[in-house]
Amino acid sequence: MNLQQKDEKYIWHPYTHQKDRLPAIPIVKGDKALLIDEKGNKYIDAVSSWWVNIHGHGNKFIAKKIYEQAKKLQQVIFTGFTHEPAVELAEKLLKVLPGDFSKIFYSDDGSTSTEVAIKMAIQYWKNVGDSKRNKIIAFHNSYHGDTFGAMSISERGIYTFAFQDKLFDVVFINTPDGKNIEQLKNEIKKYKDEIVCFIYEPLLQGAGGMLMYQPEDLDQLLSLMKEEQIICIADEVLTGFYRTGKFFAGDYMKEKADIICLSKALTGGTMALGVTACTQKIYDAFVSDDKTKTLFHGHSFTANPLACTAAVASFELIQKHKVLKKIENIITHHQKFFRKLQGFEKKEFIKNVRQCGTIIAFEVCTSEKDNYLNNISKDFTAFSMKHGIYLRSMGNTIYVMPPYCITSGELKKIYSVIVGFLKKYIEEKARA
Ligand SMILES: Cc1ncc(COP(=O)(O)O)c(C=O)c1O
Repeated sequence: MNLQQKDEKYIWHPYTHQKDRLPAIPIVKGDKALLIDEKGNKYIDAVSSWWVNIHGHGNKFIAKKIYEQAKKLQQVIFTGFTHEPAVELAEKLLKVLPGDFSKIFYSDDGSTSTEVAIKMAIQYWKNVGDSKRNKIIAFHNSYHGDTFGAMSISERGIYTFAFQDKLFDVVFINTPDGKNIEQLKNEIKKYKDEIVCFIYEPLLQGAGGMLMYQPEDLDQLLSLMKEEQIICIADEVLTGFYRTGKFFAGDYMKEKADIICLSKALTGGTMALGVTACTQKIYDAFVSDDKTKTLFHGHSFTANPLACTAAVASFELIQKHKVLKKIENIITHHQKFFRKLQGFEKKEFIKNVRQCGTIIAFEVCTSEKDNYLNNISKDFTAFSMKHGIYLRSMGNTIYVMPPYCITSGELKKIYSVIVGFLKKYIEEKARA
């Protein structure tokens, strides 16, 4: 059996329809924006390997730092012990995070970072003796991860369908759109002092379909939340580390979060690590003679030294290596592509063309429903792969979210393959 056949026999892949699934392609190497398979075929990774990779694949600087750390200390229990990579990373993060944060809590990934955030918020109110607060507010179309708490605070949709009756109740509100602020205000006021926290993906709802909304509208909503003493939790698992054009999406807003969640690009996309940072006020509610006020949460690999080292190394690359210039280049190219896409939009072949920093997205108009199950995605990925690009649409939502090291030539190739697909799709539709 070759690798592909063994994979088929032994492995169950994530978010993959198992019946008639296409064989997984064995990738043997990554080189900057490229993924290289065992036959030597090259694919431009136009989605940053599930939105994590920012400096490109096979980054030698991060690899060297991980190797050096691995020779010294690979893992140590994080209760009662500490180590330099964890402290250095915490110190670096606290200097740049958008808000008045003073403590870093480590976990394993994006889902655990949001789990920790809601546990912190719920227990905060218990610890300060306010038992009325038991409601959580989240946005429609939100996605905060796949564990049960994270699913509970996420949209009730295709991803959570099988578990709906096992999820705890959450009050879902619309994202602010500049016109609905009064309506949102009334909804929030209805629950007044019963609300524990509000969790949101600032400016960009990724897994919900790359939906975008404006910082000034979010600012208005956040100021309302603050008036009601509601703990605001920014889930920047996706938006952190310049994805939206600024270091954090929170940098676009005047109102700051009380808790922030990070993962994905935190380690440059090399290793799994989650961070939940909170303000001194929240942390202080857990400092007590009463031992039941402890946050009883931790994972075996909390603050893994290798992952923290990767994150510190990624930080250095961000600060020293002209990342901003690269991001500006992506944004400029996206803007040109945006104008090209508007031509297709005018003819109603596609809709909702939108851009936020390094992400550009739109929906293809099909005869099926606009959602994750839309069958166009299979054709689109197959077409892109045939032309040397890895793109994975979410149903009929096509998006590009490249690593920052991507070249202008590679970006142009991505756009031309997308245009090629659209033309082919339009021709086939006309013929049918
Ligand atoms: C905003 C947001 N929060 C949380 C998560 C969950 O992260 P992970 O897949 O690392 O558990 C994701 C993943 O896509 C995300 O986009």
